[in-house]
Amino acid sequence: MLFPSLYNLFSDGLLPESFSILASGRTAMDDGAFRKSIEKSLKDYLPADRWDAERIAAFMDMVSYCAVDVSAKESVQCLSDRMKGGNGGPVAVYLSTPPSLFGPTAQALADAGLIDDHTRIAMEKPIGTDLASSKVVNDAIGALFDEENIFRVDHYLGKETVQNLLALRFGNMLFEPLWNANAIEHVQITVAETVGLEGRVSYYDGVGALRDMVQNHMLQILSIIAMEAPARLDSTAVRDEKVKVLRSLRKMDADSVGANSVRGQYAPGAVKGEIVTGYADELGKPSNTETFVALKAHIDNWRWAGVPFYLRTGKRLPSRQSEILIQFKPVPHSIFGKGAKGNGAGSRLEANTLIIRLQPEENIRLSIMAKEPGLDREGVKLQEVDLDVSLVKAFDGQRRRIAYERLLLDLLEGDTTLFVRRDEVEAQWQWIDSVVGGWKDSGQKAQSYAAGNWGPSSAIALIERDGASWHD
Ligand code: BG6
Repeated sequence: MLFPSLYNLFSDGLLPESFSILASGRTAMDDGAFRKSIEKSLKDYLPADRWDAERIAAFMDMVSYCAVDVSAKESVQCLSDRMKGGNGGPVAVYLSTPPSLFGPTAQALADAGLIDDHTRIAMEKPIGTDLASSKVVNDAIGALFDEENIFRVDHYLGKETVQNLLALRFGNMLFEPLWNANAIEHVQITVAETVGLEGRVSYYDGVGALRDMVQNHMLQILSIIAMEAPARLDSTAVRDEKVKVLRSLRKMDADSVGANSVRGQYAPGAVKGEIVTGYADELGKPSNTETFVALKAHIDNWRWAGVPFYLRTGKRLPSRQSEILIQFKPVPHSIFGKGAKGNGAGSRLEANTLIIRLQPEENIRLSIMAKEPGLDREGVKLQEVDLDVSLVKAFDGQRRRIAYERLLLDLLEGDTTLFVRRDEVEAQWQWIDSVVGGWKDSGQKAQSYAAGNWGPSSAIALIERDGASWHD
């Protein structure tokens, strides 16, 4: 995602002049070998109309590579030499490493004199594996960088559709007066994937869906859905509002976690007609790591008192689909009931539903009740119809950017609005730790589900107990 995004920005003339990209990893390789590997990946990834041999060659001229092992101080020398030979302009460091390496890497760069007051640092999630370890990372990075120069990446915040939530909520008068416990019955957030481990076993096992997806992406979506209106679209105002929501999440414990969460792990099955193996087979040993999680969350504040937020994410589910469903309450009194002209069999009123589809295609659908055409001698008949807006069609012909394009540009311009602040990360971990602690203390295990299904059957029961059902 990073190199295609950088290439797209370069190709559109959006990178600063005399820009250079110094890549590094543990594998020993020279510039030529690294460029070749990137070129190959770009070829596989980029749509044919974005591939331009001349531009690719110019882009590759910017790229160089150093093999670095941060535990061996002398290997940082390569970075020093390259950077000192550079143009002396501002530097942004982008770390896409395990969280345990964030602090040591930043320290190694500082020891080599490669960091100054203007250096920015970006870190790919996860920031730690729990609250305590995230504090260690944040302290180590905070000792070297001011918060305004720290960019904690959650790539969902770079997605057009996630930002569209702000437009929908705060760019329209229509929804906000109803956006609370008076009118909303419940909220569902689903991020479903069809993929399995994708060769990421060593990262994923022991981490699981709760930490991999809920701690970051899903809680960010939840906080944008549930926050108060920020006064401005700037990094302080927006993040202040999000963190208030995250801090209002009701913690779980051994007593409450069973009724409010389901863990699942995929067993062999079929996804989109293709036979796939189970998680334990891919891993090569049994494991209690969850590849699916469903949660019933509560936000304990005035706006959301009594409104459950059902969250669900998993791998090897039937389809790739991310969406938010807002279930409104039924009208307080139906005039289409018994008596007069309202006694028809088809006069049942369905409560309004707003579905915001984030992936794969963007659309916003509001179900409303409408009268069926007819003379209504048997009573007025109502039927649910959809107000359906396809954002793909509405903005036909406009290129959809990779989430990282925006985030990288914001990093280069120093705008932290779409990055996660320290207090947000810590509030996210506090809630996640309460769930993990509840699982541990109560011994709650991952239940198996056949790949290609919507998780274990208890995930269906989680919501149906409350008289609602998942939107699949
Ligand atoms: C990553 C997770 O953060 O997000 C992956 O680590 C997951 O497990 C991915 O597959 C999903 O991102 P997207 O953009 O494909 O929805």
